[in-house]
Parts: sequence; C-alpha cells; structure tokens
Amino acid sequence: MRAAITAVGGYVPEKILTNADLEKMVDTNDEWIRTRTGIRQRHIMEDGKATSDICVEAINQILKKKNLSPNDIDLIIVATVTPDHVFPATANIVSHKIGATNAFSYDISAACSGFLYGLETGAKFVESGKYKKVIICGADKMSAIIDYQDRNTCVIFGDGGGAVLLEPTEENGIIDSILKSDGVGKEFLHQKAGGSLLPPSHETIDKRMHYVYQEGKTVFKFAVTNMAQVSRDLMDRNNLSGDDVDFLAAHQANLRIIDATAKRMELEKDKVLINIDRYGNTTAGTIPLLLSDFEDKFKKGDTIILAAFGGGFTWGAIYLKWAYNS
Ligand code: UT7
Repeated sequence: MRAAITAVGGYVPEKILTNADLEKMVDTNDEWIRTRTGIRQRHIMEDGKATSDICVEAINQILKKKNLSPNDIDLIIVATVTPDHVFPATANIVSHKIGATNAFSYDISAACSGFLYGLETGAKFVESGKYKKVIICGADKMSAIIDYQDRNTCVIFGDGGGAVLLEPTEENGIIDSILKSDGVGKEFLHQKAGGSLLPPSHETIDKRMHYVYQEGKTVFKFAVTNMAQVSRDLMDRNNLSGDDVDFLAAHQANLRIIDATAKRMELEKDKVLINIDRYGNTTAGTIPLLLSDFEDKFKKGDTIILAAFGGGFTWGAIYLKWAYNS
C-alpha cells in the first residue's frame, strides 16, 4: 500500500509587500531583486495572526473539497520554523482550531525542507495501514523573524503555506524519496537567539539576534549543488529521464537555484513550476503552495518530483505519481 496526495489547499495573507515598497525601507532596487532572485512581491501577515492561521485556512479548503469532517482526520503534521509559540506545537493549536478531536498532532522543524520531511513521515503512517487520513502542512510567517533593516534577507522571504491530505492508495502516490541533513549548515543560516542556548534578553534584542541570519552566497552554492544532485539521484535510481518527468515542484528560494536543478534534471522549461515571483520564499510553505496553485495542471498518473533545500542544512527530493484529476 502507498500513500497518495488526494487534496491540496494553499493560503497567503492579503497584504502585499512589493519590491517598490522595499526600496523605501532598505538600500535595494526592483531590478536587483528580480534579476538575483526572481521575486516581484511577497505577502505579509497582519499582526495578531500566526502560522497556525495559515494552516487552518489551507486545511479548511481540503475539508470542503473532500466533504470531510475535522473528526475524520487521524494525524496533523505541521512543518514550520515560525511556530506560534516555542511550545506547544503549532499542530496542536491547528487541530484545536479546526476541531480535529480524533487527531494527534506534532510539528517538524526542517526549515525549507520541512514539507518534504513531513510528507515522508506522514506517508509512512499511511503505509503502515493504521492511519487513513493524514494532513501535512508546510507554513511560515517569516515576517515574524525577518529584520526589515537587513537587505540581505528582507527582500527574499514572505508569509504563506499550504496543506495536503494523504490517503492510502493501490496505484500512483508517493513512490520514492531521498532526504538528507548536515548540521554544518547551521553556521550559514540560523536564528541566533531565542532558543535554549541564548534565551531572549535585553542584550539579544538590542543586538537584533532574533532575526534570520543568512550568508547568502554560501547557502546558494550548497543549495545549487545539493538540490540538483539529490533530484538527479532520485531520477537515476528510478530510471527516469527528463522526458519521463511531467513537473518539478522545487522549493522557491531563488529562480537561479531552481533553473540549475531543472537543467541537471534535463527538464524543459514548461515543466518547472514557478510562483516565487508572487510569494518570495515562504520556507516550509513553498512546495504546498506550488501544488495548490498548479493543481489544475496535474492529471492522474503525472510524474512529479518535489525538491527542497534549506536551513540545517536539510535537503531532499520526493518522486510521486499524481493520484487524481482535479
Ligand atoms: O530557502 C533557504 C535557503 N536559502 C537559499 O537558498 C538562499 C540562497 N542564496 C541566495 O538566493 C542568494 O545568495 C541571495 C539572493 C541571498 C543573494 O544573491 P547573490 O547573487 O548571492 O548576491 P551577494 O550576496 O553575492 O551580493 C552581491 C552584491 C553585494 O554587493 P557587493 O559586495 O558586490 O558590492 C551585496 O551587498 O549585492 C549586494 N546586495 C544587494 N543589493 C541590492 C545584497 N542584497 C542586496 C539587495 N539589494 N537586497
């Protein structure tokens, strides 16, 4: 028995932050942002709302599409680096908000690869035969941890995310995966304070240590090499050529990283799903947002490769066959 994605939902908050807006906040310009990243705008969540609200919106779309009651859900996994609180898990909050009284729930922390880690984990629960309806969310309110005085990071990230429903299937579904991590990446992409090593203090606030720190150039090099390699390895071990793959849904961190991955996979341009121009990098949110935006393009049996790279470092790729016509 395999696990298949049988429904998707996606959500971004209404408010838009354009490149022109950012020009007024830091020393940057639209041309630099577009040519270096592919981003034109990103969505920003209002105060008082949090990552759990993104998940709730996305899950409610799924429940409506599938005509399900929240009580039908067995498990909810939320992948995020911007949980509503350090504890309890955002997934606990989400299941309470939607009224999923029969579900157990927990979070996964794997930065931009979080959704793939969640999908792999959720699929194993379904494959075990014990759980029939598993929700995987990938969502981040990145604006909560972005320094809007730091041009190196504030132009890149946005808020948003999505969710998928996993159910048992005899055909199609999730076929293979390769997931990796290497803690060497901590040095180049992390949040310096707020955890148990450096709890919040006046000093950590004054030194702006609660924001995302990234050495972009180094992360870029690791991302290009590893996301392309893992995607190629997954294709090779499943005897897939570029012609066999219908779509690549890759983490949307930088258009140039996605292009390099597609090239290594020998994919034609129209197979590469792109929405970074509209949302920027929503961390764990990018891949479910792609699946939600492009769901109408997918046909039952289509071969799709999901690929990600992010903080940790974490990276990976998942090979699936789409299970339904939408
Ligand atoms: O999703 C998690 C994983 N993260 C990633 O995959 C992100 C990987 N990294 C990247 O996508 C890219 O490295 C960035 C988009 C972050 C930066 O692009 P880059 O082509 O690597 O630029 P750079 O950092 O090498 O900077 C080039 C120049 C520098 O100026 P000098 O030293 O050449 O004079 C920067 O100071 O661009 C400058 N710069 C900017 N200029 C205008 C950096 N940020 C900006 C900015 N606007 N926002």
